[in-house]
Amino acid sequence: MQLSRLGLLVSSLVGSIAAQSTFTPARPPSLPLAVKSPYLSTWQDAGTDGGNGGYLAGQWPTFWQNQVTGWCGMIRVDNNTYTWMGLPGATTVNQTAFEYTSTKSIFTMNVEGVVEMKITFLSPLTPNDLKRQSLIFSYMDVEVSSLDGNHHQVEVYSDISAEWISGDRSAIAQWDYGTTNGIGYHKVYRQTQLAFSEVDQQAEWGNWYYATDAAKGMTFQSGQDTVVRGQFASNGVLTDSQDNNYRAISDDYPVFGFTANLGSVGSHPVSTLFTIGLCQDEAIQFNGTSGYNPVPSLWTSYFDNDLDALSFFYKDYHTFSSLSGAFDNQIAKDSAAAISQDYATITSLAARQVFGSTQLCGTPEKMYLFLKEISSDGNVNTVDIIFPAYPALLYTNSELLKLVLEPLYEIQAAGDYPNAWAMHDIGSTYPNATGHPTGNDEKMPLEECGNMVIMSLAYAQKAQDTSYLTQNYKLLEQWTSYLVNDALYPANQISTDDFAGALANQTNLALKGMIGIQAMSEIAKLTGHPAEAANYSRIAHSYITKWQTLAINKNANPPHTTLNYNNWTSHGLLYNLYADAQLGLNLVPQSVYDMQNTFYPTVENEYGVPLDTRHTLTKGDWESFCAAISDSSTQTMFITDIVKWINDTPTNMALTDLYDTVTGDYPLGIDFIARPAVGGTFAALLLNQS
Ligand SMILES: *[C@@H]1O[C@H](CO)[C@@H](O)[C@H](O)[C@H]1NC(C)=O
Ligand SMILES: *[C@@H]1O[C@H](CO)[C@@H](O)[C@H](O)[C@H]1NC(C)=O
Ligand SMILES: *[C@@H]1O[C@H](CO)[C@@H](O)[C@H](O)[C@H]1NC(C)=O
Ligand SMILES: *[C@@H]1O[C@H](CO)[C@@H](O)[C@H](O)[C@H]1NC(C)=O
Ligand SMILES: *[C@@H]1O[C@H](CO)[C@@H](O)[C@H](O)[C@H]1NC(C)=O
Ligand SMILES: *[C@@H]1O[C@H](CO)[C@@H](O)[C@H](O)[C@H]1NC(C)=O
Ligand SMILES: *[C@@H]1O[C@H](CO)[C@@H](O)[C@H](O)[C@H]1NC(C)=O
Repeated sequence: MQLSRLGLLVSSLVGSIAAQSTFTPARPPSLPLAVKSPYLSTWQDAGTDGGNGGYLAGQWPTFWQNQVTGWCGMIRVDNNTYTWMGLPGATTVNQTAFEYTSTKSIFTMNVEGVVEMKITFLSPLTPNDLKRQSLIFSYMDVEVSSLDGNHHQVEVYSDISAEWISGDRSAIAQWDYGTTNGIGYHKVYRQTQLAFSEVDQQAEWGNWYYATDAAKGMTFQSGQDTVVRGQFASNGVLTDSQDNNYRAISDDYPVFGFTANLGSVGSHPVSTLFTIGLCQDEAIQFNGTSGYNPVPSLWTSYFDNDLDALSFFYKDYHTFSSLSGAFDNQIAKDSAAAISQDYATITSLAARQVFGSTQLCGTPEKMYLFLKEISSDGNVNTVDIIFPAYPALLYTNSELLKLVLEPLYEIQAAGDYPNAWAMHDIGSTYPNATGHPTGNDEKMPLEECGNMVIMSLAYAQKAQDTSYLTQNYKLLEQWTSYLVNDALYPANQISTDDFAGALANQTNLALKGMIGIQAMSEIAKLTGHPAEAANYSRIAHSYITKWQTLAINKNANPPHTTLNYNNWTSHGLLYNLYADAQLGLNLVPQSVYDMQNTFYPTVENEYGVPLDTRHTLTKGDWESFCAAISDSSTQTMFITDIVKWINDTPTNMALTDLYDTVTGDYPLGIDFIARPAVGGTFAALLLNQS
């Protein structure tokens, strides 16, 4: 058999045409395979812009930015070899089903009508168990059973390439094979470690592990891709040997393979489990109160070394699986109860993506959640990206919202940010949270002041933690002063939707500021400042009365708010109104909710309601905010359009939160990929919960 990296494209195309897979509950633009952190983020592109329609075999998995992270799967059934993942060359199996939940992607494969495979990719989410959540590992379980009543001799093969360890394909890879606690593992890493560095968004430091059960019948081998895969295709076993010629990732592509001999398989399913993960002792550099220092990965507080972490993770599959299953069920059930089954299609797809942009760091005594603004610029803990993600964090575990805001407070409380408004992020380039001691961060003053006040109250309400508000009162007061000065007539500035450019008197931005002031009134009340509470509330109410005159076109049919003051034919999604409802402020009259609710369906396009009248593009996160506070028919419109978009979009990378409502494609040449902003889809879940 001829096996090559580029080979047999024709047969793979034939394979995917012949195969008729179902996609439940939808066919996403990219299927999450191992998605756990900004650096463990491997997907299978599906959309028609270059993806293969959603098939695991016939195309290599990729890192979120689209470079290949070689991950291969083959199976021998009665001495005949087939491919079930990637593009190693052998005939592909027939994929009959794909299904996803919040934590799992499950493929069903048919091999010549005689054997069925069920391949489950589990990237566990355990938001209420931070020890488990801190581990940067993912599972792949391969289960095989006979379909035709006969027993079949089955061997399963899988490997990873060194493409996982660096974005620089000329970087020298080093590797080793070992066993620990009955687990066989390949350790693969960059020979020259470049701490806290990225190339093409991939991490240039840390150790990668690919592991499986070392029980009898397992074989391993490292070496050139064609050699190791060819060895399996011809013999069904590997040589239990290592290629010690450490070399560039792309130099005769070294791969790290395993086989499992499943023996004579009947109708009773037999399975084999693989684990892939990344261990970095130190994950972030953070300029906090103790200076600019490396911050350890949180898991290092619970495990002595990489192998202890790996071994715990591998052996704990049943607990991880059941905790993740409970999380899947909770999201599915709550989504159906909050809106509909369609809504669960969206939230379940967003879950791994939101948490996959974060990493828990520090120690149990001083913990942080770091978040990467993936794809748009790589900023660290961007406040206006945390804002759309806040419903997902708060809904799953309020502590997580506190942990992601913590470093922002730490820097600003220490006086290490010179501006009167709230900072935009804690560092321009993940994983370096250098802060902005000269105040030269992206300037979004009204947006971020409003976000900080709103999210701080949201956390305190949910966690019933008023001491948090007392502790941060001074900064909250300072940011509210900014809101008092700027919210009524917002200066010419950008909002979080910075791709649309700056504009003065933005209706939705002004509303955020006013809701922020009312939120501060609540904060003052909760912290024993009744006079201030009354003052802030008086200001917020006087602003919101004026705002209704400045920002609403009452003569339109139907009436609606505008994009900016005095621009009567303009309109836009009034998504900041969500915060008024979520915080239970009752600042904005019900008539405004009702008006927008009636208006949105009149400006609906094929894939949703445009963000505003400047473009036909929209944001799925902001549509979800609007849906959460709409009545049932408008809500259904929003949700149905988003699901339709997920199924139809030609985009072929991890869910974008920005797309065109007419074509379903990326707008303005901006490819947002894998951003945590999709956490905004949890808006109705949070609202329904509180
Ligand atoms: C597979 O090949 C082995 C070794 O050549 C042979 O002993 C065995 O009978 C073959 N099995 C089947 C099902 O053809
Ligand atoms: C896939 O399905 C096609 C069409 O039914 C069939 O001809 C082919 O043999 C199948 N391939 C495998 C590997 O099962
Ligand atoms: C982070 O800072 C280090 C120096 O401390 C530098 O080598 C590295 O390239 C920086 N990382 C990124 C992603 O810019
Ligand atoms: C860390 O913050 C301090 C205090 O603002 C500043 O002086 C220093 O330059 C920052 N360090 C880095 C590496 O940016
Ligand atoms: C109310 O708050 C504003 C803005 O912070 C402040 O300027 C004003 O002095 C306050 N008024 C009273 C009566 O406290
Ligand atoms: C904002 O709106 C107010 C009221 O219409 C107007 O007086 C002011 O000039 C506008 N600001 C800008 C910068 O256009
Ligand atoms: C009014 O809104 C349109 C979009 O409908 C926008 O392009 C334009 O810049 C706005 N005009 C002013 C004067 O702000």
